Formats: sequence, C-alpha cells, structure tokens
Amino acid sequence: MAIVKYWGKHGQQLARNPSLSLTLSEAFTETKISYKALEKVVSGSDAIQLSFTFEGKEEPAFAERIKKYLSSLLPVFPFLKQLDLTIDTKNSFPHSSGIASSASAMSALALCLCSIEDRLFGTLSSDQEFDQKASYIARLGSGSACRSVYGHWSLWGETGEVKGSSDVYAIPMADQVHPAFERAQDAILIVSEHKKSVSSTQGHQLMETHDYASVRFQQARSRLHRLLSALRMGDWEDFGRIAENEALTLHGLMMSSNPSYMLMHPNTLRILNATRKYREVKKVPVYFSLDAGPNVHLLYPESVKEEVNEWIGSELSTYCKDGKVIYDHGGDGPEEL
Ligand code: PMV
Repeated sequence: MAIVKYWGKHGQQLARNPSLSLTLSEAFTETKISYKALEKVVSGSDAIQLSFTFEGKEEPAFAERIKKYLSSLLPVFPFLKQLDLTIDTKNSFPHSSGIASSASAMSALALCLCSIEDRLFGTLSSDQEFDQKASYIARLGSGSACRSVYGHWSLWGETGEVKGSSDVYAIPMADQVHPAFERAQDAILIVSEHKKSVSSTQGHQLMETHDYASVRFQQARSRLHRLLSALRMGDWEDFGRIAENEALTLHGLMMSSNPSYMLMHPNTLRILNATRKYREVKKVPVYFSLDAGPNVHLLYPESVKEEVNEWIGSELSTYCKDGKVIYDHGGDGPEEL
C-alpha cells in the first residue's frame, strides 16, 4: 500500500518521483515455478516455453503478459531460454481492482526467478544482493512491485535524504521507522471487485501530457520529505494527512487528465466521509488511502485496532461488496515456501 504514490513513469519503468509503501501481510500472492531443461533449444529464438495458470485456471491474457515479461528479461536471465517453465500463481485477494495485484504478483515472480538463478549458478549469495536484484527485476514487471520484495516500509526512488536510495530498485526502510508504526493496521474495504476501467499503465501514460505533471512530481517529493519525518517521529497525525492528500491527489489527477476518468464509486466517497467524521468525533487516529481503484485502505495504529475494527464491521462493511473487508497489517514480507 503506497502512501506517497508513484504515478507517472519514463524510460524503462523509471518513476517520475520517489514513492514509499507498506508491504501487507494478508493480501499476498503465492507463486510456484517448476522448471526442467528443454530437450531442444531453438537457437536464436527468444521464445519462452511456458505453461501458466492463475488460481488453477489458464488465463491467456495473463500468460501472454508473463511471457512478454520473461522474454524481456533474457539479457539478464539468458538461462530462461533453455528451460521448460510451469508457473502456477494465486492471490489471496481480488486482482485488477486496484489493490496492488500486479505489485504482489510481479514481486513474487521476480523473487522466484532470482531463486532459480541462485540455485543454478550460486550467484546471489548475499541477502542484499539477492533483494536488490529481485527488486530491480520486479520493477521491470510493474514499477510498484519493486517495493514489495521487502517487508514493512520500503522506498523506491533516489532521494538525497535516504542513503542508498535508488531509481532502479527499492530499499527497505523498516529500521528507520518509529515503533508507533510497527504493525500499522491496514483494513482493505472491498467496494468493488470489478476489473478497473482504465489500467495503471494507461494512467501512467496520461501523466506524460498532464497539465499538472511537473507540479505533481515536485509535490510528491515534498510530501515524501514530510512523510519520512512523520515516520521517524511516530507522528500518526501528519502521516495520515499525507496519506489522505496523496490518495485524493491520485484520483484528482485521474479526473483531471485528458481524457478524464474516475475510478471511485459512490460507496468509496461514503467511506471517506464517514472516516473523517469518525476521526473527528471519536478522536481516533484512522486515515484513508486509495490506490488506483475504488477500494479503500484504512490505516491506523495497532493500539486502536479493536475499536476501529468493530466500527468498520458495524458501520462501513455495508458499503462493501458482500460486506468484504480484508483486515491486514504491515508484515515481514515475502517468504520462500
Ligand atoms: O506498478 P503499477 O504500474 O501498477 O502502478 C501502480 C501505482 C499505484 O499503485 C497507484 C501507486 C503506487 O505507488 O503503488
């Protein structure tokens, strides 16, 4: 879940501004890659031998995207051409509805590919080397995925404020965050499971000619500066203000792009308004964020988890598709199964 958003890219999957996110625990992808040596490698061919299933079913559109991605990685992983690959993958949450499914899927896949490289050639023995390569490879699949190879908080994009930050891979930030943000809660309110009408790829593209583009990229940098300070100081109030502003800015950019589009639903707005009212009346630190879709993330400290979860269940789940809420929190990140 990104707090300062990546929206707008250039070159080979490079972001126009640095971004910072929280890796969640319950919303995850499980990916299994089996591989065996191909009996006959067609020389000079970039064809990837792949059978692919998503949630147990063949999904030609996803398979095509993965195949294209794997062929684009041949300069980095030439051995892929010599393997017969089978990929089975599944998510614990609905895909393509704007809850970072491509970040989750592409980071899982990138981690698997790096594990294969390491098993075959023993080339990624240090953890840092492994993580940075996985993050770099994930980025080439979906920009936001480069942050998801780490648990807890991670930062993608070079900023003079954080040593080691880079445009080509993300870095972990957990050790730079105040204990008040440990196990930050993130309840995902599923307003709609429909595939969104405009993809993030198209959204990034529209930023190229957006009237507000340069101001936006500047704004993201100054919000990141404030966010880093809020995270270091344990300041939930400023953190929440930034999270909400970023969410509304992202959707404002969509609504003001050319052509304009809208991904929020009426129930999204009902939840946002109810959240602000609840916070004001109850004086409880609970804040919203949105990714590129209608579903709402509510962010709050673990210390208020019980009362907030109860309120979500009794007041807000009526705005959700079949009452669906994923009660999630920052987690330790990917696990090799
Ligand atoms: O990684 P992409 O191309 O799916 O872009 C997603 C961008 C947002 O999720 C909307 C924001 C972010 O920083 O993750």
